[in-house]
Amino acid sequence: MRNRRTASVAIAGAASISLALSACGGSREVSSDKGGVVGVAMPTKASERWITDGNNVVKDLRDKGYKTTLVYGDDKPDQQVSQIQNLITQGVDALIIAAIDNKSLGKVLKQAAAAGIPVISYDRLILGTADVDYYASFDNDQVGRIQARYIIDKLGLERGKGPFTVELFAGSKDDNNTKYFFNGSMELLEPYLKSKQLVVRSGQTGLDQVTTLRWDGATARKRMAGILATSYASDTVDAILSPYDGISIGVLTALKADGYGSGAKPLPIITGQDAELASVKSIIAGEQSQTVYKDLGQLALVAATMADEVLNGRQPNINDKATYDNGAKVVPAYLLQPTNVDSTNYRSVLVASGYYTAAELK
Ligand code: GAL
Repeated sequence: MRNRRTASVAIAGAASISLALSACGGSREVSSDKGGVVGVAMPTKASERWITDGNNVVKDLRDKGYKTTLVYGDDKPDQQVSQIQNLITQGVDALIIAAIDNKSLGKVLKQAAAAGIPVISYDRLILGTADVDYYASFDNDQVGRIQARYIIDKLGLERGKGPFTVELFAGSKDDNNTKYFFNGSMELLEPYLKSKQLVVRSGQTGLDQVTTLRWDGATARKRMAGILATSYASDTVDAILSPYDGISIGVLTALKADGYGSGAKPLPIITGQDAELASVKSIIAGEQSQTVYKDLGQLALVAATMADEVLNGRQPNINDKATYDNGAKVVPAYLLQPTNVDSTNYRSVLVASGYYTAAELK
């Protein structure tokens, strides 16, 4: 797979120095001359984006002179904990982790801290431990706002149109991003739910009612099918708030099985996130309506550069010191901006930037 990189991020590069790392709670001797080892723990290969993330982070670290060990946790929290334990035992110099269950890592990160290994939380914030040094992610509230804004614009809610029916989907309850996406969306949708321009026929509006464990498309498909059977026997659904492309594809499968997508029963507006290949193709085919593109090349570079800076005793570039309280501390973060993508702009955002070639989208 190509390295999906469209922009560089202004974080200073590494100098080749050897030093004792006292700032990170330990005293490891690290020499980037000799090349340290960075352990990279990713959650799953089931979604294309994390494969891209793993490859990008490894490439960036290698470019900076590091060796890497990349592991995937197969969406199993225990497996990820033991993988991180092994990385610590193998003596990695730093860890970059995209957690599966954000609350499951406190114990193993205590071991990392005791060994003086700095930890960078990748895309998903690790919760409940002070043993996480930095966070590299996107403006996650903004992701939710972009999705809600799309629904509002397409339905003409600001022009007073309605009532319309909508159903809400959220991500995995053990992923800290889930509530940021959902709250970002609900902040904008709430007034229209109150005015009844938007009606959730299933009545399922609380976050705890709409989550999708491990972001699983099949789980979303089943929930959608159940809702259609019980709440839409004599009505149609006009919009689906979906936080992630894998969920959107699952929801689309249920809708099509229920006869949506034909002249008499058009598909609802359906949002997404990650600009995964299947979803971009679905947008081009007029099925999924929208996705949120997050430049994974930039994210990887931010995380790799953070690791490099910390290992060289420097303070990484951060642009948010307030938003991401993990329950034990406010984790200093570098947040990137997400972008709305639909059929009108996918060429300029995804193809012109080189994220996908035109041939890949055929
Ligand atoms: C979230 C991430 C999203 C999406 C989702 C499912 O943590 O921020 O972009 O990838 O996981 O993998």
